[in-house]
Amino acid sequence: MNDNFGREISYLRVSVTQRCNLNCVYCGKSGCAKKETELSPEIIEKLVRAFAKCGVKKVRITGGEPLVRGDICEIIGRIRSIEGIETLGITTNGVYLSQLARQMKNAGLDSVNISLDSTDGSTYRHLTGADVLRKVLDGIDEAEKAGLSPVKINAVLMKGVNSDGAGSLINLAKNKKIDVRFIELMPFSDEGENASLIVTGAEILRQFPFLTPAELEEGTAVYYTADGFAGRVGLINPITHKFCRSCNRVRLLCDGRVKPCLGYDTAFNLMPFVNDEKRLTQEIEKIILKKPAGHSFENMSVPHGLNRTGG
Ligand code: 5AD
Repeated sequence: MNDNFGREISYLRVSVTQRCNLNCVYCGKSGCAKKETELSPEIIEKLVRAFAKCGVKKVRITGGEPLVRGDICEIIGRIRSIEGIETLGITTNGVYLSQLARQMKNAGLDSVNISLDSTDGSTYRHLTGADVLRKVLDGIDEAEKAGLSPVKINAVLMKGVNSDGAGSLINLAKNKKIDVRFIELMPFSDEGENASLIVTGAEILRQFPFLTPAELEEGTAVYYTADGFAGRVGLINPITHKFCRSCNRVRLLCDGRVKPCLGYDTAFNLMPFVNDEKRLTQEIEKIILKKPAGHSFENMSVPHGLNRTGG
C-alpha cells in the first residue's frame, strides 16, 4: 500500500534478535539483548503474512546478528512459504555464514548482505572486538558457492580508523561478482562524536576516480563499475543524500513492534493483535500511514543502536 507521501511500502526488514556475537564500535550498545524478548518462528510468520497482505513483497532478515538464532532456517522457511513474498534476503556479519550458507539457501533464502569494514586482521579486530576476519572471508566464499545471489558487502568507513582500507575493500569487487557498498556513518553509537569520522560518498569518488557510474537502479545505493571489475561498488549516502523520498520500507523489531522510520524513536506494538489477521492488517495500515516524510537523525532524542533495528 501507499503511505501518505505516495511511497509504495513493499519492503519489510525483520529484526529477529538484538543479540550479536560482535561488538562493533559504530553500532551502539543501548538496549539489553535478551533472548526472551525474541519472537518465535510461528509468530514471525504470522506478522510477515499480515505485512504481505498489505503489499510487502520483499523481506530482509536482520538483527542484531540473525545467525545467532538456532532456528534461523525455520524462520527463513516460514517466511519463504508466505504468498506474495518475492524476495528474501538476510544481513549478517558473516561469522557463522560458512557453516550456514547452504542450509539457508535450501530453506529458501535468496540473497545475503555481509557487513565487513576491513580486510586487515588487526583493524577488523579493533572494529568488532573479535579475531574472526578469516571466518567472514570464508563465509563470503561459501555464500557464493551455495548460490546465494546477489552477495553484497556493506562497509562503514571511519576517518583514521579504517578509511585507509577502502581500496582493498573495493578490490573485493574486482575478481568476484559481488557488490561492495559503502554506507556513510550514521549517528547510532552511544559513544563520542560521529560527524568528524564520516567518510562521504563524494570523498570516495574523489579518491577512486576510476569508478564510473553504472546503470541506474531504484534503491538506496548508487552503483559504480570499473574496467575489469566483475562486481560493482555502491555508495549509500544517508547523510549527504537522504533517500527518504524513495523510502519503501518499514521495520519489524525483534519484540513485535514496528518502526516506520529509522530516524525516529517511534515504534508501534503489533503483539496485542497477533492472533487476529484482519486486525493486524488494519493496524499495519495505520502504522504505514504514520511513516514520516523523512528522517531526522539530528533530532533523535537518544541514539539507538542498530543492534535493535538491524539497519
Ligand atoms: N552507520 C552506518 N551504517 C551502520 N551499520 C551499522 N551501524 C551503522 C552506522 N552507525 C551498518 C552495518 C550493517 C548495516 C545493516 O548497517 O555495517 O551492514
